[in-house]
Amino acid sequence: MNSDSDIQIAGDILEVPHLLQAPREHPVTVAEFAGLARSVAADRAQWEHLVRYDATTRWYHRLRTGPGYEVWLLSWVPGQGSGTHDHGRSSGVLTVLDGTLTERTERGTRALGPGAQRVFAPGYVHEVVNDTLEPAISLHVYFPGLTEMPMHTSAPAHPEHADADAGAGADAAARAAARC
Ligand SMILES: [Fe+2]
Repeated sequence: MNSDSDIQIAGDILEVPHLLQAPREHPVTVAEFAGLARSVAADRAQWEHLVRYDATTRWYHRLRTGPGYEVWLLSWVPGQGSGTHDHGRSSGVLTVLDGTLTERTERGTRALGPGAQRVFAPGYVHEVVNDTLEPAISLHVYFPGLTEMPMHTSAPAHPEHADADAGAGADAAARAAARC
């Protein structure tokens, strides 16, 4: 028996392509969605030129779609906030790209600076606001894509903002189309 036959068979990876895990084209797991968000965040050329700021309504732009997920770019001028909401049946990953956002949940308040990432499951309730004096940018991956963003009534942390929203008639339609 040829003494090196075992080595040849075991050593040639091209003989066993079925043992190699092909890199996935699209993320599937929560960790992969978080990884996608991190890679987009790190590549400013992908999104920086697209960002707009709109003082009248929160600005958002769909950056990418894939099977079972969507990636959205959002901007927040000082004082803008999402209101308290959930994400229907979607899970998501929120990543701050620039500036600082404040997230409020029933468990408390946390400041999210550049690179901060929050992963949420269906039914997760939060409010996100830009409480700073500088604009902020965030990236949101939803899986599956966000089809509704039900608003929750709760004691607003900043009544003055709530009053302004009500006065502007920030309609159900506009809110239904919102992203966060
Ligand atoms: Fe949200």
